[in-house]
Amino acid sequence: MSKVTVIGAGNVGATCANVIAHKDIVNEVVLIDIVGNLAKGKALDTWQQAPIDNYSTYLSGGDDYAASEGSEIVVITAGVPRKPGMSRDDLISTNARIVNTVTENIMKHSKDPIIIVVSNPLDVMTLACWRSSGLDSSKVFGMAGTLDTARYRAFLATALGCSPKDIQALLMGGHGDTMVPLPRYTTVAGIPVTELLGKEELDAIVQRTAVGGGELVQLMGTSAWYAPGAAAAQMVEAIVRDEKRIFPVCAKLDGQYGLHDIFLGVPVKLGKKGIEQIIEVKLNADEMALLNGSAAAVKSVIDVYNNMQL
Ligand code: NAI
Ligand code: 2OP
Repeated sequence: MSKVTVIGAGNVGATCANVIAHKDIVNEVVLIDIVGNLAKGKALDTWQQAPIDNYSTYLSGGDDYAASEGSEIVVITAGVPRKPGMSRDDLISTNARIVNTVTENIMKHSKDPIIIVVSNPLDVMTLACWRSSGLDSSKVFGMAGTLDTARYRAFLATALGCSPKDIQALLMGGHGDTMVPLPRYTTVAGIPVTELLGKEELDAIVQRTAVGGGELVQLMGTSAWYAPGAAAAQMVEAIVRDEKRIFPVCAKLDGQYGLHDIFLGVPVKLGKKGIEQIIEVKLNADEMALLNGSAAAVKSVIDVYNNMQL
C-alpha cells in the first residue's frame, strides 16, 4: 500500500498525517485543504521532521485534488469543529455540504478507495459520504469508536493506577452523548473491570466518556485533535498492514443488532478490504435499550439531513 490522502489540514487532519508518517507504513501522504498553503506548509513541516524521527513517508500538500490521484485510503477531516455550547449536530449543514463536495472530488481521482470519515456529526457525515461516493459500505466508514474507547480506557487507567495498555474495552453506538461504553465487555489484563471498580465509580467513568469530547471543547475552546488524529491513523494502519484488528467503527448496518439504514458504531474486523466483518456481540436487555436509544438519536439527525435535501 503506497498512498494515503488526508482531506483537511486543520488540527485533526494535520495530526493524522503526522502520525501516519511516523508509523512509516506508506510511501506517500497527501494533505489537501481548501486553504492550499496551509496543507502545503504542514506537509512540508512534517516531511522536514522525517530526518529527525527517522521515517521515509513523503508528504506533500495543496488544494488540488489531482495530487490525490490513485489513493488507496482517504481520510476526511474537512469541516468546522465544535465551539463551546455547540453539539456535534449543530455542525450538520456546513459540514454536510463540505463532505459531499470533498467526496465527489476524491472519487474523480481515485477508483476504489477506502474512505474514513472523521468530520462531525460523524455518523451522519459517514452516511453522506457513502451516498456521494457510490462505494460499497465495506469501504466507507467513520472514526469515533477508536477515540471514544481510548478516552474510556484512559479514564479507567487513571482510576486503577495502571497502564492503559492493559485495558481492553468495547464501546458502541453513535458518536454523541448517547454512546454506549460496555463495562461488561471491559477487562484489565483479562480481569473483568467490574471486579476491580465499584458500580458508582464505573458509572461515573462511563458518563465522563460519553461527554468526553465536550470536556475538551470546554477546556480548549475547540475540539480535540491529538487523540482523534492518532485514532484515525490507527485505523489507516490496520488497513495498510491488513491487521484484521477488531475496532469499534461507524459502519452501515443492514439488520445487525436489529438496525437498518443507519451508520452506527459497532465492533468490526478491519483489514485491507476495509470492513471485513461486522461482529454481533450478545447484548443484554439494558445494553440493547441503550444502543437503541443511541440509534434513535442518530436517526433523528439523519432525518434533519434528509430534510435538507442536499
Ligand atoms: P479545523 O478547523 O482545525 O480543521 C478543519 C479544516 O478543514 C480546516 O483547515 C479547513 O480549512 C478545512 N476545510 C474546510 N472546508 C474544506 C473543504 N471544502 N475542502 C477541504 N478542506 C476544507 O478542525 P478540526 O479540529 O481538525 O476538526 C475537523 C472535523 O473533525 C470537525 O468536523 C470536527 O468536529 C471533527 N472531529 C471528529 C472527531 C471524531 O471522533 N469523529 C474528533 C475530533 C474532531
Ligand atoms: C470529539 O469527540 C468533538 O467529536 C469531537 O472530540
